[in-house]
Amino acid sequence: MEDIIDEIMRLKKERNAIILAHVYQPEEIQEIADFTGDSYGLSRQAAETDADVIVFAGVRFMAETANILSPDKITLLPAADAGCQMFTDAIEGQVRQAKIDNPHALIVSYVNTPASVKAMSDICCTSSNAAAVVDSLPKDKEVIFVPDRNLASWAEEQCNRTLLKWQGGCPIHGMLTVTDIRMAKIKYPNALVLMHPECRAEVRELADYVGSTSGIIKYAEKSEATEFIIATEEGVLYELSERCPNKQFHLASRRLLCTNMKKTTLEKVRDALKTLEPRVIVPDEIRERSAAALEKMLAIKG
Ligand code: 13P
Ligand code: SF4
Repeated sequence: MEDIIDEIMRLKKERNAIILAHVYQPEEIQEIADFTGDSYGLSRQAAETDADVIVFAGVRFMAETANILSPDKITLLPAADAGCQMFTDAIEGQVRQAKIDNPHALIVSYVNTPASVKAMSDICCTSSNAAAVVDSLPKDKEVIFVPDRNLASWAEEQCNRTLLKWQGGCPIHGMLTVTDIRMAKIKYPNALVLMHPECRAEVRELADYVGSTSGIIKYAEKSEATEFIIATEEGVLYELSERCPNKQFHLASRRLLCTNMKKTTLEKVRDALKTLEPRVIVPDEIRERSAAALEKMLAIKG
């Protein structure tokens, strides 16, 4: 009998599909993916693929982004209920009001926002290019950064510029404390601390390197150090140990687990390829305006 992996591979070929997986996905999903990466890398892949079907192993904002950038493809989100706290932190009506209250301000929206918020934004960013995006904006303009206050404060530090910060954030990274890092450093005194910018500013101060998930992976690969404390979602440990089999990685806290990212299963991927459902379709009028903000972001290196 055909096993589930063979079935997925056969269906993938029949559908001319590509599987894109975020590095926070479960190990078995990353194993079957054609491409794994961070939000920026996955957006690029979605924009450039010549497949007919994009299977997005991730959360809703990622599949929406793929559909905005490649509207002529079918975009599938096998875990249809996989959300993100920041998707709900950036409420369309509140962003519209912020624009009315600050008519001259520019809006930078994190890629984790809904398409309707991207459509109201001047430019999007990911964690890998937030500072470069902010730096690209005229210095005499006020900038509203939606919705992650921690990523915004990181961009402020990099760009030496004050932003109007939204009060949203990732509950997983935001939960990490100074005590977590101090305890990990006591346990692993020789390890370098690699951290995601969605962590709070006072926690970031204890990091040796701050960057997106891809940035963390690249740093660990290039570094002469052999032991690291990883302060981002646990799924990234899979790619780190694949790429650096002789190095040691310790998760900064067992709480670094995003349940939404773990909703994708092999069965759901197979069923999505079989039925071409559940699809993610961004309505045309929102798509056109959000595409402009995303394309401006893609022009800035991740
Ligand atoms: P990256 O931007 O590093 O992909 O991570 C952001 C994130 O939390 C995705 O959910
Ligand atoms: Fe959202 Fe945080 Fe989960 Fe990423 S890790 S999907 S930012 S809740």
